[in-house]
Amino acid sequence: MRVNKSGARYSAIVGIGEKIKELSKQTAREYLFLNRGVNAVCNINLNEVVKDIDFNSGTIQVYPPNSGFPRLKSAINEIYFHNRTRDDNITISAGGMGGLDLVFQTLDIDKILLPRFYWGAYANILLIRNVPNQTYNSLPELKALAGSMAGTAVIICDPNNPVGNKYDDAEVLETVKLLESKGAVVVFDSPYRRVFYDRDEPMFAELAQLDNVVIVESFSKSVGLSGQRLAFVHSGNEEFNNELGIRILYANNGINGFAQELVSRLLVSEEGKKAVDNFRKETVRDIGLNIRYLKEKGLLADNEFYSDSDPMGIFVIVNKTEKELLEKYIGSVSLSYFTKDEKQWASQFSRLCVSVPHSGFVEFFSSF
Ligand SMILES: Cc1ncc(COP(=O)(O)O)c(C=O)c1O
Repeated sequence: MRVNKSGARYSAIVGIGEKIKELSKQTAREYLFLNRGVNAVCNINLNEVVKDIDFNSGTIQVYPPNSGFPRLKSAINEIYFHNRTRDDNITISAGGMGGLDLVFQTLDIDKILLPRFYWGAYANILLIRNVPNQTYNSLPELKALAGSMAGTAVIICDPNNPVGNKYDDAEVLETVKLLESKGAVVVFDSPYRRVFYDRDEPMFAELAQLDNVVIVESFSKSVGLSGQRLAFVHSGNEEFNNELGIRILYANNGINGFAQELVSRLLVSEEGKKAVDNFRKETVRDIGLNIRYLKEKGLLADNEFYSDSDPMGIFVIVNKTEKELLEKYIGSVSLSYFTKDEKQWASQFSRLCVSVPHSGFVEFFSSF
């Protein structure tokens, strides 16, 4: 059998997790899994939210509408966009990963620019879809290059994975507006943002007014439901939405109805909003405490990564190697996994997920 080989790799981060689990078993020691990419301060408590779901209803048991449940799209429009877009501009996707893949397929671009340190899946999806990619260093650099960027797409991931830094919103918006006015396409993929910002914030509504901006937003991190595989793609460009709609039909034939029902209730019902608020409150509190603790201990790689932007989470970069952390029973991911060009330099740093309970975090890091 002949196979089309893309050259894309299985995620190294998954391999690190498996290695640490094995070590933990062999040594009968407890490890702190900060190599992961999910919020683990607490679970979102869904008990009150699922109580009234009718599992026997037609909505859940038959094929869902291709672009998503109307009720969910309308809730997203209200809560993310403050009703400043049309429900038709929103397409529900199978996670952010599924959404990004379809966006990269749909856009007709010469190349795409990724942040200097980036989530490895971007490069792997782009390899599978044959889209050339390069990196950019900072927002000021993008602004300086904007005049020559027609036909190029740019990914903005803010707060960033892996660095966990957050640029000032006004600066992000100014950069996006300049880029899109010069004919560049901006893909705003910032799934960690809504962990820290609530429904009043205006960013998504502002971005939705810009024709060359595509937003991919996931429910994996902001409401802690990575298991549901649910996200959405927003664009105000009709041609883009039509092609995306065709491609998503033949990729998915509708997105899981139960997940859509559950997330609709999280966004709309009083119990749902309460569950999200409690989840976010606890999560943000412990992330903040953990970052402050690393800073006080001199472990945060401040000078290298947080001079023009702030460490926010859910990740941060520390000035210890993956090996040094593992010696203290802490799982992490070497920063070298998040760059193509600076692997050697980056290997002195590691990415930690700081979204874990503060007390356990202190226990492990007190030995530094
Ligand atoms: C930067 C970034 N974008 C998108 C995603 C996609 O998440 P999901 O496919 O779970 O929605 C992730 C997940 O780790 C991510 O880190």
